Amino acid sequence: MSVSTQNLPDYTMPAQQVPLYEPESLDDKTRDDLKARIAEGIKAMGAVLIAHYYVDGDVQDLAEATGGFVSDSLEMARYGRDHEAANVIVAGVRFMGETAKILSPEKRVFMPTLKAECSLDLGCPPDKFEAFCNEHPDRTVVVYANTSAKVKSLSDWVVTSSCALDIVGHLRDRGEKILWAPDKYLGDYIQKQTNADMLLWSGACVVHEEFKAKALIDLKKVYPDAAVLVHPESPASVIELADVVGSTSAIVKGASTLPNETFIVATDRGIFHKLRQLNPDKRFIEAPTAGDGATCRSCAHCPWMAMNELQTLERLVTDETYRSGCEILVDPKIGARAKMPLDRMLDFQRRS
Ligand code: 13P
Ligand code: SF4
Repeated sequence: MSVSTQNLPDYTMPAQQVPLYEPESLDDKTRDDLKARIAEGIKAMGAVLIAHYYVDGDVQDLAEATGGFVSDSLEMARYGRDHEAANVIVAGVRFMGETAKILSPEKRVFMPTLKAECSLDLGCPPDKFEAFCNEHPDRTVVVYANTSAKVKSLSDWVVTSSCALDIVGHLRDRGEKILWAPDKYLGDYIQKQTNADMLLWSGACVVHEEFKAKALIDLKKVYPDAAVLVHPESPASVIELADVVGSTSAIVKGASTLPNETFIVATDRGIFHKLRQLNPDKRFIEAPTAGDGATCRSCAHCPWMAMNELQTLERLVTDETYRSGCEILVDPKIGARAKMPLDRMLDFQRRS
């Protein structure tokens, strides 16, 4: 079965456009004070904090300590929808906040900063994507959750890396041809696994695209007993070297269930916080982004995830003026249409 990104411009973000973001380093006392004020502020707001595995470890700990949740993007969506709090704080990137708002339009959804973007979302402009869909009306439109509300509203299905294989396999069994966006590497991986007929958009994640197979082969020689855990937004040559390929939650599970004592991990290094918490006796090593042809400005760390700092979170929960600029708003018409493929994904997951 063929995979094609032909006739499309390359929507990968050029390395020089990736923002350089260096969080300010804080001493322990300052961090502890900020954490105490944030915990009080979350309570005063009647909010729940939901964090992704890639954000600052202290922000992840705060989510859990205040009755919230840390997870992959699929579980973040489900948790935000099912939680009774009227105010939801999402520590992650914009598409995660938008997903929470689309699923629960009656709730108020805030993020520490609305500048936290995602190269996949930015690499899929809705007008261009709509034109692409219109050229292929015979295809079922499946989009990754890492997209804008408008792009979701143009789709038949939304998927995350936790459920993409199952959903595309299901569509293949129904004989459907698929138009996939935006991640070409994840799309290629799903196509190879399912043998579905897929036409791919040409976007990429600026973090995962930089993992290098040749340097990884060299590192495996240094640690021959290590297992390799890879997120499928990585290039095929890196995926081929993996012992476990999967979403962030699959990576967390793999680290706990495999018997190895050493792991080489090809995903954002923010996840090391949870990996080390759950496996204090195991060793975790970053997969290489250096080596021949390295261009990354965001080597193994997403600059937008890094924007979820304690200081911005503290401002969000204590300063109403700042907060008013951090609320996720989605056009209700677009939101209602985007909710359909999101509900379809969550219903599919519930049934399977
Ligand atoms: P997960 O759905 O696996 O959490 O991934 C989200 C993401 O943005 C990976 O880069
Ligand atoms: Fe997007 Fe990549 Fe950052 Fe995930 S790590 S939010 S896919 S840019």
